[in-house]
Amino acid sequence: MSARVLSGMRPTGALHLGHYHGALKNWVRLQSQYECFYFVADWHALTTHYESPEVIERNVFDMVIDWIAAGLDPERSTIFVQSRLPEHAELFTLLAMGTPLGWLERVPTYKDQIEKLKDKDLATYGFLGYPLLQAADILIYKAAYVPVGEDQSSHVELTREVARRFNHLYGRSPALEAQTAEAVAKLSKDDARYFEKQRKAFGETGSTEALAKGEGLVRKAASQVSGWTAADSELLLGHLRGSGKTILTEPQALHTEVTKLPGLDGAKMSKSYGNAIAMREDPAVVQDKVRRMPTDPQRVRRTDAGDPERCPVWQFHQVYSDKPTQEWAASGCKSAGIGCLECKQPVIDAILKEQAPWRERAQPYLNNRQRVHEIVQEGTERARVVARETMGDVRAAMGLSY
Ligand code: TRP
Ligand code: SF4
Repeated sequence: MSARVLSGMRPTGALHLGHYHGALKNWVRLQSQYECFYFVADWHALTTHYESPEVIERNVFDMVIDWIAAGLDPERSTIFVQSRLPEHAELFTLLAMGTPLGWLERVPTYKDQIEKLKDKDLATYGFLGYPLLQAADILIYKAAYVPVGEDQSSHVELTREVARRFNHLYGRSPALEAQTAEAVAKLSKDDARYFEKQRKAFGETGSTEALAKGEGLVRKAASQVSGWTAADSELLLGHLRGSGKTILTEPQALHTEVTKLPGLDGAKMSKSYGNAIAMREDPAVVQDKVRRMPTDPQRVRRTDAGDPERCPVWQFHQVYSDKPTQEWAASGCKSAGIGCLECKQPVIDAILKEQAPWRERAQPYLNNRQRVHEIVQEGTERARVVARETMGDVRAAMGLSY
């Protein structure tokens, strides 16, 4: 099985072109290379929208329709909703016990967001814990890669630290010591003595030769000892290195190059700024919105020459137009050879062309919302199998599997 990718989005309602080009397009691409888990982070949405939870339910399923419209294939990707998996909350609680407060207070998004979202009271326990909940989301699926924007790097970094700390604290519990002793007992007396000798040597002198010999013995046991399991190998390798068992896997952020599409006014595209085009926006509205887009403020009359660098339409050309069209627009702008409405037409056409398959793929689900619920249900059950397994390991490591 290929490595697992995991990512989530908060259900902010209908997604727009910025979401598609900045994230979703990449999610679709990753499906062909990895085992992908994508989920709706509805609890994360509550950290900022705890006063208006009623908008979340509709947004959850609208967002899943947008994902499918963009090309996420529910047969290939596991699509689910965070709140249907209380295991995330359990892991969050257990991780919270040993996570220093300072780690959370120092996450840069914490103070930034409190500053930015001044109209909301974010001096809450839940908001401080946001990145730790995100760590639980990631660690519970032992994800190798997490595709996220640069703004989320610090959350993935925190996740890695939390995993390391957990493994350090609980990778050597009494239960694991007993399991390790059982694995050692499966070896012959000579092999057990040999293994102990290499482990001691590596521990005391850091001899890489001893480490290699110990590893060699584990490999030999794996192929020769009857009743030997992969878990036995993992236990002994952890014992040998003195690192404890790796219970939680450190993930890596995946910052694949994404296309930056600004909003209609050149600022970041966001529904709350009123400068967005929804993925499934009505074609007439798309046309109207682009036609009303501001252009180079210094190009007042049709006869004034303009500068594309001062114009947000030009940034759209860079995402949507081929080279010849870009050259036509840039030179026509600088020579006043074309008018702004003329310049915008290829952009309108390209957006409508991009949106057509989205609309088509979404329609069956808009006609039958029940089907969306079923997809989420199926994805949730698939995710639950993995989440339960990790929680079994976590509880055992912490001595909570009574
Ligand atoms: N914090 C992410 C965002 O705002 C959403 C998110 C929640 C997430 N849990 C996650 C992303 C786990 C990746 C992995 O975009
Ligand atoms: Fe912008 Fe095009 Fe008008 Fe130039 S011609 S100002 S690039 S819309």
